[in-house]
Amino acid sequence: CGIVAVTGYKKALPLLINGLEKLEYRGYDSAGIAIINSETNFISCNKAKGKLKNLISNLNDHNIPGTVGIGHTRWATHGKPEVKNAHPHTDSSGNIAVVQNGIIENFQDLKNKLEEEGIIFNSDTDTEVIPHLIQRELNTLNKLNLENNGSTLLVAVRNVISDLEGSYALAVLWSGAPTSLVVARRQAPLIIGLGEGEFICASDTPAIANFTNIILPMEDEEIALLTPLGIEIYDSSNERQYRNPISLKVSEQIMDKMNFKHYMLKEIYDQPQTAKNWLENYLIKNLDNGQYQIKYPFDTEFFESIERIEIIACGTSKHAAMVGSFLLEQFSGIPTNVFYASEFRYSPPPLLPNTLTIGVTQSGETADTIAAIDMEIKRRSSIEDKKFKPNLIAITNRKESSIGRQVSNIIDICAGIEVGVAATKTFFAQLLSFYGLAIKFAQIKGNQSPDEIGKLINELIKLPPLLEDLLHKHNKSSEKLAHDFFNIKDVIFLGRGINYPIALEGALKLKEISYIHAAGYPAGEMKHGPIALLDKKVPVISIASPGEVFDKVISNAQEAKARDSYLIGIAPECNGTEIFDYLMKVPSSNELISPLLNILPLQLLSYHIAAHRGLDVDQPRNLAKSVTVE
Ligand code: G6P
Repeated sequence: CGIVAVTGYKKALPLLINGLEKLEYRGYDSAGIAIINSETNFISCNKAKGKLKNLISNLNDHNIPGTVGIGHTRWATHGKPEVKNAHPHTDSSGNIAVVQNGIIENFQDLKNKLEEEGIIFNSDTDTEVIPHLIQRELNTLNKLNLENNGSTLLVAVRNVISDLEGSYALAVLWSGAPTSLVVARRQAPLIIGLGEGEFICASDTPAIANFTNIILPMEDEEIALLTPLGIEIYDSSNERQYRNPISLKVSEQIMDKMNFKHYMLKEIYDQPQTAKNWLENYLIKNLDNGQYQIKYPFDTEFFESIERIEIIACGTSKHAAMVGSFLLEQFSGIPTNVFYASEFRYSPPPLLPNTLTIGVTQSGETADTIAAIDMEIKRRSSIEDKKFKPNLIAITNRKESSIGRQVSNIIDICAGIEVGVAATKTFFAQLLSFYGLAIKFAQIKGNQSPDEIGKLINELIKLPPLLEDLLHKHNKSSEKLAHDFFNIKDVIFLGRGINYPIALEGALKLKEISYIHAAGYPAGEMKHGPIALLDKKVPVISIASPGEVFDKVISNAQEAKARDSYLIGIAPECNGTEIFDYLMKVPSSNELISPLLNILPLQLLSYHIAAHRGLDVDQPRNLAKSVTVE
């Protein structure tokens, strides 16, 4: 979900809508705003089901005067995407409005108690308990003769959040303190943008970028009172907090579709530039010996003591981590395991010494990944033996995000803002980051000859024109292929070795944006079950890169052909690939580099199938770019 809140002297409505437009990628099931109407001092609340454009068209005839307001764009957790479940939620009198991102785990207990007290609920959400609880708290404070002002609201909200379990980022309006906003966060992001005499608070930087480039990220468990006169931030012990604001690189937050029909296609086309950026940023030539070094922006001496690596990620980032794990084990010789963050949190492996933990998240905000890393930091820090101390690296596209504040060794993948919900260029840039790490480890540990390392680096340097060529060749052909396949129901993706995660990612991309069922398997596993699905209606896409497992992948493709499946190959034109009914040609390369080439035609194919089906490619149903709930 996305949250935006403003207080100042400018009209709130356009600022809120502008902020919500920038946050829509975080959820688009419904949207809503609440503004303190400056003529009446009452709260005007408007909500709509579906995309933000529905809310905007509802609001067309409304010119709500007022400079203080909150807005929300929702990704449904509790309660279906319906108007009644859209935020803001209000108390029974309509004097308090709340937007929230997170999950209030004990909401049912709280709701039961409130219902016993006679409160009537209007939604199925967990959030609605909050305005009712604040109302109850304000009534109590009223009896103590506290004045109606922002400080009273702050006390009321603080008392209420101490009873909440789970995670949240929230913003509260109260007609009793019409220029004040109270905002609070626990394990969900919230950032304050500082203007002159006005403040905007949001769950992500793009919502702030048009307004200011000076921000104040809130730390976990903090609560703040915002009025046009200033900001007061308090930690969970009620200590006032002072910190310096930081600057945002605004250029990185600008969303521009250029001439492309969708952001996703534009972002697929950005990848040659992503490769160039990575090479420029992280590959440095040593002028004394002419050799290349990977230059990550932190001390890598601690790598020497590392004996194993554990990588934590979700979704597409997990697939990048799996390619990374292959490289770190097979190229650099370091035992490596990859975990789903949501699994790691509740069943972490026994602690082993001298372990490097890597968190991978393009958004830097995925709740499961943040919580898993947090847990790992805590359980390692509680052991005195230095061998168990936390060694951490985070790979992210948002170094100012929650993971950026949690972990000091950051590899910024420098992919620029990605608007399409289905990750493409950030996946590619995460892969590159792992190539860099694998090279670095191989150099430090001496597990590869300088010759082999040099060869891999040379292949990376050669990438940008190859990628451009691939896009050029495959855009039209995958559009044609999409025309033949847009009506299929099931697709199987096969890959082995370093390309097994690419088969998983190919299947995930197709599922996410075209709603066609797709599954990726290690090609050798097909015969142990998935083969039962095959017939002429189920095409098989095989990734067959020359190298260690090429012949095996081709044999597995033969097995599928014998079951009448239409075969699509992602491979160079070479002996063996004539088996494919359709070959999406990729340049011949070192097998280790092949994932960086193979992923592009798969992205293009998914894109064109979804576009051909007339679907909302950039904002597929039920998904969100940044999932900040567990
Ligand atoms: C969401 C997105 C996926 C993404 C995953 C992990 O589910 O829809 O595309 O891969 O989150 O996101 P992260 O920001 O942690 O890489």
